[in-house]
Amino acid sequence: MASVHSVSSSTPPSRSIPSSDVVRLSARIGAEIRNVRLSGDLPNDLVKEINDLLLQHRVVFFRGQDHLDDAGQERFAKRLGDLVPHPTVGAIKGTASILELDSARGGGRADSWHTDVTFVDAYPRAAVLRGVVIPEFGGDTIWSNTAAAYQDLPAPLQRLADELWAVHSNAYDYAATRSRATDADRKHFDEVFTGTVYETEHPVVRVHPETGERTLLLGHFVQRFAGIRKADGQKLFDLFQSYITAPENTVRWRWKTGDIAIWDNRATQHIAVNDYGDQHRIVRRATIDGDVPVGVDGRTSVTRVKAPKAVGRAA
Ligand SMILES: [Fe+2]
Repeated sequence: MASVHSVSSSTPPSRSIPSSDVVRLSARIGAEIRNVRLSGDLPNDLVKEINDLLLQHRVVFFRGQDHLDDAGQERFAKRLGDLVPHPTVGAIKGTASILELDSARGGGRADSWHTDVTFVDAYPRAAVLRGVVIPEFGGDTIWSNTAAAYQDLPAPLQRLADELWAVHSNAYDYAATRSRATDADRKHFDEVFTGTVYETEHPVVRVHPETGERTLLLGHFVQRFAGIRKADGQKLFDLFQSYITAPENTVRWRWKTGDIAIWDNRATQHIAVNDYGDQHRIVRRATIDGDVPVGVDGRTSVTRVKAPKAVGRAA
């Protein structure tokens, strides 16, 4: 039988996570890892194994990590790389990087497809998300595999994508992507999320720095494509994005309190499904610093704008 575990061939026989504890959730993305208690004190080889599984499955899940508080979550996340706060929202008090998404507060529902923080050049490599308050029903998160999406493109569209560059901005068309935005969401977006406006040019196809794969780099922060008028760019965006959100490239996670999800932010997009009504939902994200993307021609991403937002304009 052909092995689908491309990483496993280099794994020593003394691996500390037995394959029976890696429960795949679909062919292309997602695995639950069982019988691991996450902490900042895990042995190096176990951390490396978790990172290898992350590269292989794009998103990995751990149930029952209720022992982790903010500090414990960050101590574990720090084993995967340097922590980085959100560039405009910052980190919650007493933490280096933790971003809280609280459904009861503005900006707390990340309900459109995106890769985190792509409006800066060196956007995060990975994120560690913890379920803190989980609704009785709804509120799942869906991740997609952007390397598989690239592979699915017919060759002429791969070549087109290889050459395209897109401008990503946090001052994107928020209203166009959110049908359920509240006044608090809009206020948070206007006053906090876009307090400093960024514009960054990224290749539409990023070469993954650890696996060498080509991945599609799009999501809701895309404002326009370089050298293409906006109306045409929207059609291209919708076309490429449709390969990313194709059901067979996705995995859907039903949260429980104490769950941890870790995703490779360079090979995925995600969306938090906004289907839990007025129930309360809080998740907290520790974020791991990334490096500047490189396109297939070797050119690197560039931030063109980083400016405090002009205020006081008449509406
Ligand atoms: Fe996100």
